[in-house]
Amino acid sequence: MDNRTQLVKAAIEVRERAYARYSKFLVGAALLSTDGQIFTGCNVENSSYGLTICAERAAVFAAIAAGQQRFELLAIATTGGATPCGACRQVLAEFAPQLPILLIDVERPDTIVEVNLRELLPGAFSLNAQD
Ligand code: THU
Repeated sequence: MDNRTQLVKAAIEVRERAYARYSKFLVGAALLSTDGQIFTGCNVENSSYGLTICAERAAVFAAIAAGQQRFELLAIATTGGATPCGACRQVLAEFAPQLPILLIDVERPDTIVEVNLRELLPGAFSLNAQD
């Protein structure tokens, strides 16, 4: 199985483990690091709603904690093929401003839409203007 296929499968699988008892909107994210590892995350909600963590940020944080900071592809699995929220876009841009992203609608897993983070987040905040 090639990297892309494995990444798509990982995003779909981790989505099933999302803890989304309030919204019922399950999200799975799988992030491929440049050394070929896959890091996954799902959304984890809380009865204090604002404490919810998105799938994409969970995947990034898992990768960083494992020592990987360079990424080449992200896959996100939802019902409908949703794009990442603004907060997750900014967090992704910290590490990979040109990251290609695969949007998977779990009801149509063979029709994957590819977008790029630079189109999703033009003008990302940076402390360093030349970044
Ligand atoms: N969610 C994500 O996991 N990623 C996003 O990019 C947007 C939203 C989650 C948060 C919440 O658990 C549910 O989807 C509905 O907003």
